[in-house]
Amino acid sequence: MPDLLGLRGVAGEQILAWIRHARAMQEILQRPVAKVPALRGRRIALMFFENSTRTRMSFELAAKSLGADVLNFSASGSSLAKGETILDTAKTISALGADCMVVRDGHSQMPAYLSQHLEEPVINAGDGTNEHPTQALLDLCVLAQLWQGRFEDRLLVIVGDVARSRVARSHLWAARALGHRVRLVGPRQFFEPGLVEAFGCELTSDLDAGLRGADAVMALRVQKERRQQGGPWLSSQLDYFRTYGLTRARLQQHGEAVPLLHPGPVNRAMELAPDLLYDADRSQIQTQVQTGVALRMAVLYWALGGSDEQIVERVHAGT
Ligand code: CP
Repeated sequence: MPDLLGLRGVAGEQILAWIRHARAMQEILQRPVAKVPALRGRRIALMFFENSTRTRMSFELAAKSLGADVLNFSASGSSLAKGETILDTAKTISALGADCMVVRDGHSQMPAYLSQHLEEPVINAGDGTNEHPTQALLDLCVLAQLWQGRFEDRLLVIVGDVARSRVARSHLWAARALGHRVRLVGPRQFFEPGLVEAFGCELTSDLDAGLRGADAVMALRVQKERRQQGGPWLSSQLDYFRTYGLTRARLQQHGEAVPLLHPGPVNRAMELAPDLLYDADRSQIQTQVQTGVALRMAVLYWALGGSDEQIVERVHAGT
């Protein structure tokens, strides 16, 4: 059974296949009864050891839209508080009959570690500062729509806390596979040494220079919880917003219609001006959340052995 632990080493054809499958799933979600029995009788375990709103809820909705049952695990209120380990928790959920494990954890590589000890496929729902593959894939679904399916020569500008961002890392791996350019913009202290060499991306600390020529702009959340409050990493929230905050005026200098993405959750008035958040002309944020359900349906179906042809057959058969 396949795992989805990250986009590192994943071929462009596989990424494009997930995007294509997600489109078929979107068709299911638009029906009056937005449900098919493709995974009826299968059990998807949602194992979230770190907080989440959109990833968790969209995986749950994705599983239920495919007719699967959901085993919901939350760290708070669980036997972790009595000293049970994450591996023993996963083994317990496996014994309850889970067919697939969706794992979020604050530690990088926890999904990879669990996959070494479990028979069931493991899907990474975000691990520490490593990767968040389904977030990057859903963003790529949105970009595929905006860019008419052509990635080559497009420029995705990612602004913000790059070093701590698992979303940025998944995007950097995906860009290597799909052939689009990525330019990272942020304060120098947010960059890791070796990024340019590892990924062939562009890097600048000048936001206005960084936005030039962008085909899409993605702001990243400043990971306040992963940095020491009041430490030397940032002088102040206001200072960050003045230097790196995206505003309508700033984006307008670089093309009237450049689309704006953010994986969420947003620190208002830090990464984005609040009036941009739901700006119908630019903001893709609600579309990203909606697309997450279809993309996660495609990934769950793939992880449990479905094929493209089967999805298309079921969509057309109305089952
Ligand atoms: N983008 C994202 O992972 O959001 P959640 O933390 O709410 O799941």
